[in-house]
Amino acid sequence: MPDAIVAEGLVKRYGQVVALDGLDLTVPEGTVTALLGPNGAGKTTAVRVLTTLLIPDTGRAIVAGVDVLKDPRLLRSKIGTSGQYAAVDEYLTGFENLEMVGRLYHMGTQRSKQRARELLERFRLSDAADRPVKGYSGGMRRRLDLAGALVANPPVLFLDEPTTGLDPRARLDLWDVMEELVAGGTTLLLTTQYLEEADRLADSIAVIDHGKVIAEGTSDELKSMVGGDRIELTVDHVDNLGIAQQALAGLACGEIRLEPGLRRIIVPVDNGSQALVDAIGQLVKHEVAIHDVGLRRPSLDDVFLSLTGHEAEELVNGSQAAELATEGQSR
Ligand SMILES: Nc1ncnc2c1ncn2[C@@H]1O[C@H](COP(=O)(O)OP(=O)(O)OP(=O)(O)O)[C@@H](O)[C@H]1O
Ligand SMILES: [Mg+2]
Repeated sequence: MPDAIVAEGLVKRYGQVVALDGLDLTVPEGTVTALLGPNGAGKTTAVRVLTTLLIPDTGRAIVAGVDVLKDPRLLRSKIGTSGQYAAVDEYLTGFENLEMVGRLYHMGTQRSKQRARELLERFRLSDAADRPVKGYSGGMRRRLDLAGALVANPPVLFLDEPTTGLDPRARLDLWDVMEELVAGGTTLLLTTQYLEEADRLADSIAVIDHGKVIAEGTSDELKSMVGGDRIELTVDHVDNLGIAQQALAGLACGEIRLEPGLRRIIVPVDNGSQALVDAIGQLVKHEVAIHDVGLRRPSLDDVFLSLTGHEAEELVNGSQAAELATEGQSR
């Protein structure tokens, strides 16, 4: 499979700040790569370089077979892009915004109007089509901006945090749209702060930090880098944590971790489901009351934490947020 995006040794400095520090990236045609990284990692800078909006200090990039630095005009006709902040004309209606994009791509008046209507429908904006964008909500602007990126059916799409600020329904809709596009052969590079999004959509995830790719692979490959299964157990009384630790020592295949504030004990195990049964048996035998217990595989959060050392709060994960909320209630 030929590569739709190749970046080699991209460097971009802003004064003392090194936004890109030798970034290498390859995205095969028809696949989805997610750039995942904490705030300031260089994601937007990378996307801006690859979409001709920013000239790197050094390095080279080929997108859709076109040299980004040598032929930016030609490249712009082959890519679609949507930025971290929606770029739409406030004074035009949603319909007019999309129609204008079509004309910029020389699609002709009829085709531009038709495409605008199709996309408004697809992004659930038909009802607001004839209202000026000034009166749109944040999520509506976002969707309109994304629709704009699709007007010309570009073979390569760059979406910088496409679902940030969308409600859950709009996010799911957009995931469907992206999956359809990729099924139709589009290559997609997206940046995201949502681990679930990378997990669900990306064929390959490039973890970026301090302007460099520090790990790359499928979601499963990245997860296996940070270890295997573990049992997470919450006891009723913090005083019982020590007893639990002793009772479970025989099952652990690595170091047991205690989180006294959450009354939690985390035990790395080899044979997950059997170990879970054994663990419960041990605690019953030692008369330690269990508040909550579960077997967990490493999540992308764990991958992040272990690779970047950044705290998870910098990254948003729906299930984790829900978990924290429940913990808050039970205390
Ligand atoms: N125009 C600029 N002038 C000065 N510094 C900049 C500029 N643009 C980006 N930077 C710096 O470059 C680094 C990378 O920024 P970038 O916007 O690419 O990060 P990001 O990964 O997209 O972050 P976020 O998740 O917050 O969107 C940051 O340290 C940022 O402060
Ligand atoms: Mg950014």
